[in-house]
Amino acid sequence: MVSGSSYFQASFFFFVLGCLVSDSLAGDPYVFYDWTVSYLTTSPLGDKQQVIGINGQFPGPILNITTNWNVVVNVKNDLDEPLLLTWNGIQHRKNSWQDGVLGTNCPIPAGWNWTYEFQVKDQIGSFFYFPSLNFQRAAGGYGGIIINNRDVIPLPFGMPDGDITIFISDWYTKSHKGLRKDVEKGADLGVPDGILINGLGPYRYDQALVKDGIAYQIINVDPGKTYRFRVHNVGISTSLNFRIQNHNLLLVETEGSYTVQQNYSNMDIHVGQSYSFLVTMDQSASSDYYIVASPRFVNSSDWTKLNGVSILHYSNSQGPASGPLPDPPNDYSTVFSMNQARSIRWNVSAGAARPNPQGSFKYGEITVTDVYVILNRPAELIDGKHRTTLNGISYLPPSTPLKLAQQFKIPGVYKLDFPNKLMNRPPKLDTSLINGTFKGFMEIIFQNNDTTVQSYHLDGYAFFVVGMDFGVWTENSRGTYNKWDGVARSTTQVFPGAWTAILVSLDNAGIWNLRAQNLDSWYLGQEAYVSVVNPEVDQSEVPIPENSIYCGILSSLQKDQAQRVNFSGTTSISDSSKTVFFMLIIALIGHSFSARKHKQRWKYKPKRGKETRMTSAATDEQKNKREAKPVKVPLTRNKPRKSPTVSGSCCSNHPPNLDLWSGF
Ligand SMILES: *[C@@H]1O[C@H](CO)[C@@H](O)[C@H](O)[C@H]1NC(C)=O
Ligand SMILES: *[C@@H]1O[C@H](CO)[C@@H](O)[C@H](O)[C@H]1NC(C)=O
Ligand SMILES: *[C@@H]1O[C@H](CO)[C@@H](O)[C@H](O)[C@H]1NC(C)=O
Ligand SMILES: *[C@@H]1O[C@H](CO)[C@@H](O)[C@H](O)[C@H]1NC(C)=O
Ligand SMILES: *[C@@H]1O[C@H](CO)[C@@H](O)[C@H](O)[C@H]1NC(C)=O
Ligand SMILES: *[C@@H]1O[C@H](CO)[C@@H](O)[C@H](O)[C@H]1NC(C)=O
Ligand SMILES: *[C@@H]1O[C@H](CO)[C@@H](O)[C@H](O)[C@H]1NC(C)=O
Ligand SMILES: *[C@@H]1O[C@H](CO)[C@@H](O)[C@H](O)[C@H]1NC(C)=O
Repeated sequence: MVSGSSYFQASFFFFVLGCLVSDSLAGDPYVFYDWTVSYLTTSPLGDKQQVIGINGQFPGPILNITTNWNVVVNVKNDLDEPLLLTWNGIQHRKNSWQDGVLGTNCPIPAGWNWTYEFQVKDQIGSFFYFPSLNFQRAAGGYGGIIINNRDVIPLPFGMPDGDITIFISDWYTKSHKGLRKDVEKGADLGVPDGILINGLGPYRYDQALVKDGIAYQIINVDPGKTYRFRVHNVGISTSLNFRIQNHNLLLVETEGSYTVQQNYSNMDIHVGQSYSFLVTMDQSASSDYYIVASPRFVNSSDWTKLNGVSILHYSNSQGPASGPLPDPPNDYSTVFSMNQARSIRWNVSAGAARPNPQGSFKYGEITVTDVYVILNRPAELIDGKHRTTLNGISYLPPSTPLKLAQQFKIPGVYKLDFPNKLMNRPPKLDTSLINGTFKGFMEIIFQNNDTTVQSYHLDGYAFFVVGMDFGVWTENSRGTYNKWDGVARSTTQVFPGAWTAILVSLDNAGIWNLRAQNLDSWYLGQEAYVSVVNPEVDQSEVPIPENSIYCGILSSLQKDQAQRVNFSGTTSISDSSKTVFFMLIIALIGHSFSARKHKQRWKYKPKRGKETRMTSAATDEQKNKREAKPVKVPLTRNKPRKSPTVSGSCCSNHPPNLDLWSGF
């Protein structure tokens, strides 16, 4: 420990390695994580199956960080197929290199590791991460991201007595590989096998519907206290209604925006969406209470018997929960749900990190520069394959990520010609990007021509949800927009036969994924990218990371991964000396590249810090030295290995046989 402004802290939670270096003079703190992504065997619905876990946990560990912190996550891919983790809702200011989608990153081959490094600049709120390729999210691999307010910024509500993350999801016992094959063949996903809450099956609320012996989630609380529940729908394609028996849900946050605080007895949460609720334990505790997530807009008996059920257990509870589950909304149409969505408002007076387009919080007064009306349709046959489209284009991921093609000025990989409305031409497969105007203000209208709710997500940004209605959007629809307190978020639902309008200020340079969150729609091609280029060089983006993986046309630049981690049997890192060794390496590397990368943020003040801190966290002087002459960490090569061959069937979030990823 060093006196003054610096301290070093290392903690071990389960197998998560977290190392925090805080230095108020030198810049924003760093946290380091070491994650191994692997298959685990577990029985969420009673029968053994393979799921994707992180460091032996399913769901994965929670990233619990604070506004402006730098996050370094060394991800080891111990799956049998390529992997990318994406950070849903994290904006990665000027740094789409860390976004973890196929347009920005080459996949991490099986058996390799790759270190993400990003800053959660000016963000607060509740988000989650998940594996973005190959339908893997259907097998798990997700976990929560909490970005806390900095101490100097007060919460717009009293400090909750506890913070509880809840993942709700539809779940299939079929493997993600089996599911994606079905989807490729044009088969409907069908009715899920269950609804999970935090990776666990339902409490046995009904002896006939739920078999014995299924592990369920119990949330332990104390009477009179208020907890923040962060609820994420991490499922494949089912909209879920979330509710807690006899308790109000006081909505306070949506994906990074504090909302006007309103009570709801239940909330429809669509695929990929996140909400925070404050829940006060104001009941008598005559029994435990049900926490329920149930499918929406379906009323056939094979659906209504599917309920995700957990238990809210007061410390003074008199007995188990019993009797019927609390009722879902009494409306199978989408009318109630749309009205509920419209009732969510941004708290425009909450002082917090929030979008501030063109220096004005009044987004309704900014002139729109680009308008895109984006229509989605159900899957259709294109060139003999089942594909989904946006404006008649089914996204075809090139073997070289867009961002790398842009960096190396490789022509012909993509076109900046995504149409701003449906064109009168047959649907096609293509790599068409939206050409965003840097610092422009874009209006996007999603028009859902499918028969189910779809949600759309934009990476790199929070957008304002300004309108939603049934029917076909017209210019006159703008008259109904909320120009004052529409909520800013990163995933919006679009009801079938309806439209949703969003406004987004394109102030974050990079190439950003716009996608359906519904995995089946996404997998079959419902995505696009928005390219936002800052013409001023001195304001340019964060440079390509030194550890960038190369593939496609650039695969010859890829060196073999010299330092491979021995994954076999490494679901637990029990040997603490090994762990410390990892930590050192990571700390050193993290600091050597971060010092260079974030030059402008570091102030190289010589410090009184002791040299011994080198073993844990580099001093500014040392960072400074490394700035001049990068430290080479000796890499030990076990055996010369051939780079893995990545075949077309394993490396995209899209069906194979599009001749992808043959160029590794
Ligand atoms: C997150 O970390 C803070 C300390 O930085 C701690 O107070 C809080 O309880 C943590 N939250 C969770 C959910 O672990
Ligand atoms: C892989 O992990 C090792 C430490 O285990 C680290 O030194 C190396 O930088 C990582 N590789 C990449 C590409 O991030
Ligand atoms: C909005 O935020 C302010 C400031 O933090 C808070 O005092 C107020 O209660 C919030 N208003 C509503 C309606 O939630
Ligand atoms: C929400 O409901 C709780 C009771 O559960 C009540 O105490 C509180 O005043 C309500 N808040 C608002 C903003 O309606
Ligand atoms: C169930 O759904 C069908 C078709 O969507 C509808 O015709 C029927 O009225 C619904 N039943 C109830 C009870 O809402
Ligand atoms: C993309 O937009 C920029 C202005 O933001 C323009 O200069 C450029 O020519 C456009 N590119 C194409 C291919 O349309
Ligand atoms: C989709 O578009 C067709 C043709 O315009 C229209 O007839 C149909 O009602 C639309 N369906 C939905 C769900 O919007
Ligand atoms: C990798 O680890 C396993 C299990 O700990 C061990 O049996 C094996 O010998 C190791 N392989 C190498 C190359 O170190």
